[in-house]
Amino acid sequence: MTRGVRGGIRALAPLAVGLVLLLSGCAGEGKAPQTTLKPKGPQAETINHLINPVFMVAGVVFVAILGGALFVALKFRAKDDDDFDEFPDQVHGNFKLEIGWTILPAVVLLIVGIFSVAAIFNLAQKPKEDAIHVEVYGQQWWWEYRYDINGDGDYTDIITANDLVIPAGRQVSLKIKSRDVIHSWWAPALNGKKDAVPGRTHPLTIQADAPGEYIGQCTEFCGLSHAEMRIKVVALDADGFTSWVDHQESGFQAPTDEAAVAGWTTFASQCTSCHRLTGMTEPTDPSKVFEYPEVVNQVSGEAPNLLHLMSRTTFAGAKFNLRKDTPECVALGQDWAQTDDGLKTCLNRNALEAWLRNPPAEKAMHPGDTPSPESRGMPNFNLTEAQIDDLVAFLTGLK
Ligand code: CUA
Repeated sequence: MTRGVRGGIRALAPLAVGLVLLLSGCAGEGKAPQTTLKPKGPQAETINHLINPVFMVAGVVFVAILGGALFVALKFRAKDDDDFDEFPDQVHGNFKLEIGWTILPAVVLLIVGIFSVAAIFNLAQKPKEDAIHVEVYGQQWWWEYRYDINGDGDYTDIITANDLVIPAGRQVSLKIKSRDVIHSWWAPALNGKKDAVPGRTHPLTIQADAPGEYIGQCTEFCGLSHAEMRIKVVALDADGFTSWVDHQESGFQAPTDEAAVAGWTTFASQCTSCHRLTGMTEPTDPSKVFEYPEVVNQVSGEAPNLLHLMSRTTFAGAKFNLRKDTPECVALGQDWAQTDDGLKTCLNRNALEAWLRNPPAEKAMHPGDTPSPESRGMPNFNLTEAQIDDLVAFLTGLK
């Protein structure tokens, strides 16, 4: 080995070591919840079964091509005793070689292509009979989930946001849509990404092998808070899912506690220009229900349904934890707030209060001075600390 080659290797060694450390850091258990390389469901498994062999083929090609190029460059490099006026033999065209390096890559691509197309068809299969059907609406900058539990085509049985709750071991058929710009829904452990395009419906089937929480992310740049438009899929066991559905289908419970009633009044006067609580009435007039608006495409200006807010684990486009992420609170699952003790211990109260105090300071949004169809995100209502306390009392009652 010449001094030049040895010098080059010495210079590159720290880089290679650093790269290996960096990549091994990515794969640490529990450290990379958004990795696509650890599938947790059959659809993601299908993709993984395609990625691994293709990556290996690509690796062999990479090493062979670069190794060959490096070998030729070193073997035929200019040497000190070369006569620079004399050219080596000029060769052009070698029939056998040219045929070989045309056919070989074509065969490799054909094989990869066959497996890719098979995987595409596999992933595009119609969902099974017992699948759960959910409409997914992307808008700046949160995801809404509308469930058709009865299978009658009516997607208003449950309207929720941020946490997509599904039964483990069962297919979930998502219809992905957008109310404003292009977003993309991606929970890497469960399937590939699917764009949410205004005016279109894109199907995506997911399934989680086991109960657990699977993190994802909007993956199409969609404006200011694209990076804060997060996804959380919560898979429950069969019984857990059934009781979750029963609980979600139960209606609005008017509060009786004094502070919560005050919060309800503030909510009805300030928050209902955007937010809804299915079945919520006017505090002073129990016959007046705030109707849920029709789904409007192309214009967002909407905000999450807050019915049963305390059965969610995140808020504000899943940017913040509503339930603290300590192990004992995570262990309580979706039921964390059902007991007074759980609510008291696990409510991420500081984050919720900060959000009510000044939302645009907590997440990049452009709400405008007053809510309008052009508004995106929650404005600062300049609430007093007393109003914030009352609102928290009201919201924490939405179990
Ligand atoms: Cu929505 Cu990026």
